[in-house]
Amino acid sequence: MIPFLDVQRMHAAHREALKTALMRVFDSGRYVLGSEVTAFETAYARYIGTDYCVGVANGLDALRLIFRAYMELGELAEGDEVLVPSNTYIASMLAISDNRLVPVPVEPRLSTFQLDEGLLEAALTKKTKAVLLVHLYGQCAYNEALDAFCIKHHLKLIEDNAQAAGACYLPAESPGLPRRTGSLGCAAGHSFYPSKNLGCLGDGGAVTTSDPALADMVRTLANYGSSRKYIFDRKGINSRLDELQAAILHVKLGYLDAENERRRALAQVYLDEVVHPEVRLPGVATNPSNVFHVFPVLTPRRAALQQYLAEKGVETVIHYPIPPHHQEAYKEWKDASYPISERIHREELSLPIGPAMTMEEMRYVAHCITNWK
Ligand SMILES: Cc1ncc(COP(=O)(O)O)c(C=O)c1O
Repeated sequence: MIPFLDVQRMHAAHREALKTALMRVFDSGRYVLGSEVTAFETAYARYIGTDYCVGVANGLDALRLIFRAYMELGELAEGDEVLVPSNTYIASMLAISDNRLVPVPVEPRLSTFQLDEGLLEAALTKKTKAVLLVHLYGQCAYNEALDAFCIKHHLKLIEDNAQAAGACYLPAESPGLPRRTGSLGCAAGHSFYPSKNLGCLGDGGAVTTSDPALADMVRTLANYGSSRKYIFDRKGINSRLDELQAAILHVKLGYLDAENERRRALAQVYLDEVVHPEVRLPGVATNPSNVFHVFPVLTPRRAALQQYLAEKGVETVIHYPIPPHHQEAYKEWKDASYPISERIHREELSLPIGPAMTMEEMRYVAHCITNWK
């Protein structure tokens, strides 16, 4: 069986280093808000290229807290609209609506699955105050035109980097100076859910930003609204990255670039060797702008392909079967139509990919698909 993602095999390669980190925390007697979290936050901010990183409990909280912090700082207000890709994972939407802001879905490009910045203008109203840019499937969704649009209309550009740890934007004028996703807007939310490219052994997340006021506010809100012990400035929540997860993440951060490089090399096998008239490959770049968290293909006969691959011993996953606007949670959108998203949700199938896979496994999957009748 070729699993969709073999986390155990991924961790086996770093077993001793991970065990050392786990035992160090175990022996320290300090499990929340200690030196492991501080050390990881410093390392991750440096890696992403921002001045600050605040560890939080998960990726949804990271995004939720960014919006909440902007509201506490008086930069966003209830009812403000946030443009967001219509084909994203539901968490992007929840982070917005949880703060009584209004998510406004905007369609992606079918070729790349990323937000189509050419459609932003039509979605703009007087209430639009931000864009939540999702680097979906691990591909950088940022570009100069999108940035120019946000500047022109005074919109905050917030990144959902849950799926794209380590991805880069390569500026056209200086491609030798890549900028990491998570540093491209005014703030970014990161998820360290175990299956993510940088995953911990449970839930974890972070906010990165170079705005000191935002970083302080997120840190305060995530710690019961307290900036000093037993002093509560805001009505906050408890959303903290714990010491064990931080120690694990710090070890794994050291391998992230190599693992992403490996993912790109593996993805190239699919790009080169999957040839089938009914299977559409993603229009992806294989340079550092893509870290292949997911390798998505489109096919009108998805159920048949998934069944066939399962019979061949290949596990696949659908990201995602139902678009946010068709979810019961967002019944206010039930009559809305986002045909590109609907097609993606109808036809998308994610092929196995992960740094522990072998080239032979990739070739086998590619061979199976190419020979699918
Ligand atoms: C695009 C996107 N945003 C946000 C999240 C939320 O992250 P978490 O599961 O850590 O809360 C996810 C999780 O899968 C995601 O895929």
